[in-house]
Amino acid sequence: MTAPLGIFDSGYGGLTILHQIRQRLPQYDYLYLGDNARAPYGPRSFERVYEFTLQAVRYLFSQGCPLVILACNTASAKALRSIQQRDLPVLFPPAADDPSGLPSRRVLGVIRPTAEVIGQLTKTRHVGIVATQGTVSSRTYELEISHLYPDVTVTAQACPMWVPLVENGEADSPGADYFVNKDIQQLLHRDPQIDTIILGCTHFPLLYNKVRACTPSHIRLIPQGKYVSASLVDYLQRHPSIENRLTRGGAAQFLTTEQPKLFNDSASIFLGHPVEACHITL
Ligand code: DGL
Repeated sequence: MTAPLGIFDSGYGGLTILHQIRQRLPQYDYLYLGDNARAPYGPRSFERVYEFTLQAVRYLFSQGCPLVILACNTASAKALRSIQQRDLPVLFPPAADDPSGLPSRRVLGVIRPTAEVIGQLTKTRHVGIVATQGTVSSRTYELEISHLYPDVTVTAQACPMWVPLVENGEADSPGADYFVNKDIQQLLHRDPQIDTIILGCTHFPLLYNKVRACTPSHIRLIPQGKYVSASLVDYLQRHPSIENRLTRGGAAQFLTTEQPKLFNDSASIFLGHPVEACHITL
């Protein structure tokens, strides 16, 4: 059985990842699911983010997806490990003819591919992360980066207003300037040696111009899409048993837990082309 590649986010942020993945891998079909009705996930507990993420992943699996990307840092930080280690081996045991011994369906996140490249991008060895409260409190970035690059100092800044601004269509409003500027200045005050800032939330590239405008020009801003898509290219090359099961029609379908009209209007602006989403309930 073949099916699209699943992409999940709490809302619109994963569209920034979908866009980059389609640039690199236009041949596949994609099924995007935004849990907009329950966004933001950032302030929610570990248990709740895990529960919601597992529901979404199971929905995408029920549509046949052999692989789902959690295009959400909060879900990657709070749910990915449990789903990979606890749920998948039970729900989708390895196929008898697969020597890898891995579950027959897979889930990947966005934090690891970002952490892997950061040591090559910073010169001062001081890196800042802007992310949701949930991602920051999980300390996942600090842990991943300290394993890979023990000499890099990481300072993480929670930006609790940024996702609601994007989800409520306020990303371009003057009001967004205040919150973006406040959080960036606080981060740079905490560590003035930062030369690289990871946009550690997939919603944040939608605020890129505002972040750039209030960040000194010598500081590099790192949206994740480029690195996540490069890592996916590599993954599919190394896992033909997954790659062989992806359909190749070059199409994307969209699902949302919110009213489709709302989703379509915002998603069309973010992607720059019309979107026709279907409503689902998780
Ligand atoms: N796009 C999600 C992330 O990358 C935002 C989560 C939220 O809904 O707060 O963290």
